[in-house]
Amino acid sequence: MTIPDHDEDQLLRARIMLASEIERASAVLSSRVVEAFLNVPRHPFVPVFYREEGGFHRPCENDAGWLREVYADRVLVTEVDGVHAEDAGPEGVRGAATSSSTLPSLMADMLDALDVRPGVRVLEVGTGTGYNAALLCHLAGAAHVTSVDRTERLVAAARTRLREVGFAPTVVAADGAGGYPGDAPYDRIIATCGVRRLPLTWLDQCAPGGLIVVPLGGAVARLTRLPDGRAVGRFLPRPAAFMPLRDGGTAAPEPAGPTDADGRAGEAGSSALDDPGFAFWAGLHLGPAVARSSPRDFWRTVEAAHRSWLDQHCPRREWFTVEAGPEGQFASYTAPDGTTTRWPL
Ligand SMILES: C[S@@+](CC[C@H](N)C(=O)[O-])C[C@H]1O[C@@H](n2cnc3c(N)ncnc32)[C@H](O)[C@@H]1O
Repeated sequence: MTIPDHDEDQLLRARIMLASEIERASAVLSSRVVEAFLNVPRHPFVPVFYREEGGFHRPCENDAGWLREVYADRVLVTEVDGVHAEDAGPEGVRGAATSSSTLPSLMADMLDALDVRPGVRVLEVGTGTGYNAALLCHLAGAAHVTSVDRTERLVAAARTRLREVGFAPTVVAADGAGGYPGDAPYDRIIATCGVRRLPLTWLDQCAPGGLIVVPLGGAVARLTRLPDGRAVGRFLPRPAAFMPLRDGGTAAPEPAGPTDADGRAGEAGSSALDDPGFAFWAGLHLGPAVARSSPRDFWRTVEAAHRSWLDQHCPRREWFTVEAGPEGQFASYTAPDGTTTRWPL
């Protein structure tokens, strides 16, 4: 595996192009975050990634489109069912993505929400390629950054790439569901994999007043840790689909619901679920029981949720609050008439 050579001008132009794309795609970003994307290169972290062609993920490196794709605002899949793109044969692999470099504009929104300043202690759950960890190092200082991922294969590659660009944060193979007690407490915790409920270990390891940014139930939540041990916050406006935190017991469910076996999907259901605003509301109504419901019950719940969503004038995810603590975890929405609806997560 080789890291392709490109001249400095070409790489600088590519980073400027990516930073402009990120600014176009995001709400107003802090200049610190944009500056981080201008300074930290993405290409060393994704020397090989998968392209999907006809159901196969095929590894691609240093071909004609490689640099353009690396610096485009797009997800780059780097592991499929545990097979890293750097280890795959040219014929490719079939399966589901298990690691990737996240959509840069979504990374930017999450980093902005995390408010990373020099010297804050940061934990990242989901090191993946190491690119986000590098941006965290640029913003906080590498000595303050700890990042964990599931396997030694992933973290060893990320650690090497981070060193190549001049950063030496703590990068550890560990189940992120347990956070990383070794460097706790943290002022900032960011997860780049999705959870249905916030692992309580993250609450314990976050200092009072600290921030937690986490994909929670199909949206990104930004919570502030309170001195009483709970955390409260809101959801970011943009939709976000993340691969789940695996084997942690708190993983987000796979997005697929029951199949359209009884033919009801054509009513309110399937097309409405394409609207990310409604999908978020429907996800709260369906709750964790979705995996056990029959197709008929599933679509009945989706239709009822759709009626209530329209009755409530299509509330946007950023109007919901979220709270998490040892006593329970909830999302809530207060309508203009003062009525509050609360869903357990
Ligand atoms: C979207 S990728 C992370 C992207 C990464 N931040 C980057 O910049 O490349 C999600 C990552 O979460 C990791 N992950 C999933 N379950 C995990 C767990 N239980 N503990 C730690 N990491 C986990 C996956 O292995 C995957 O690398």
